[in-house]
Amino acid sequence: MTAATIAYALLFCGASLVFAGGLAYRIYDYARTPAPLKIPTTPAPTTRRGVALRLAREVVLFESLFRSSLWTWVFGWLFHAGLALVLIRHLRYFTEPVWGWVAFAQPFGIYAAFAMAAGLAGLWVRRFAVARVRYISTPSDHLMLALLLAIAASGLAMKYAAHTDVVAVKAFFLGLMVADWQPLPADGVLYVHLALVALLMLIFPFSKLLHAPGLFFSPTRNQADNPRERRHLAAWAAKLEHRK
Ligand code: HEM
Repeated sequence: MTAATIAYALLFCGASLVFAGGLAYRIYDYARTPAPLKIPTTPAPTTRRGVALRLAREVVLFESLFRSSLWTWVFGWLFHAGLALVLIRHLRYFTEPVWGWVAFAQPFGIYAAFAMAAGLAGLWVRRFAVARVRYISTPSDHLMLALLLAIAASGLAMKYAAHTDVVAVKAFFLGLMVADWQPLPADGVLYVHLALVALLMLIFPFSKLLHAPGLFFSPTRNQADNPRERRHLAAWAAKLEHRK
C-alpha cells in the first residue's frame, strides 16, 4: 500500500465525516431557527400542496432566479443541471452492480460536464463584468467558482487527455466503504481531482454552498399565503402565550 493510497483513504474518511456530520448539524440548525413572521413572497400559493409545487419549481427550474436575472439563470441553471448529471454519472464508482438508471445516464453525463464548466465560466465572468455584482463579490465567491471549475477541468482532463484507471478508482472507493483497502492508481490528475473534491466536501457545510438545503427552510418560499385562515404562531411564541 503506497503512502498516497493511505493518505487519500484517510482524507476521504475524514472529509466524509465532516461533510455528513456538518451538513446534518447545519440542517438541524436551520430546522430549529424560529420563523416568527408570515412572510411568503407573494403572489404565493394558499395551500401546502401549492407550496410543495412552488418549492419543486424552485429546485428544478430556479423559477425566482429566472424572473429576477435571465443571464444569471442561464448560467446558474446550466451549471446545476450539468452538476446533477455529472454526480449521477459518478454513482457508478460507488455502486456494484451499477443501477440501471445510472448506466442509462452515462452518455448524457459527458455533455453535462461541458455544460457544467460553461455555466461556471459564465457565472465567473458575471462577477467581473457586472459592476454591481463585482462590488459585492468577496474572495470566497471567486474561490468557490475556481474550486468547482478546477474539479470540472481535472475531471475532463482525465476523461479526454490523461486517462486514469477507472476500474481501480472504483475498487478503491468500494473498498473504502467496507474498510477493505485497495490501491489508488498513482496518477497526478486523479490526485488533483480527488484532493479538490475532498476540499469541497470539507468546506461545503460551512460555506455559501449550503443554499442547497437552505432553500427548503426559507420562509419566503416555504410558507403558504393563508394568514387569514390560520394564525401564524411560531413554536417558541406559542410557549410564551401559555405562560401568561
Ligand atoms: C470521490 C468522489 C469522486 C471521484 C472518485 C471522481 C472520479 C472521477 C474520475 C475517475 C473521472 C474520469 C472519468 C473517466 O475517465 O471516464 C472523473 C471525471 C469527472 N469528474 Fe469526478 N470524481 C469525484 C467527484 C467529483 C465531483 C464532486 C465533481 C463535481 C463537483 C466531479 C466532476 C467531474 C467531472 C466534470 C468529470 C468529467 C466528466 C465525466 O467523466 O463525468 N467529480 N471523476
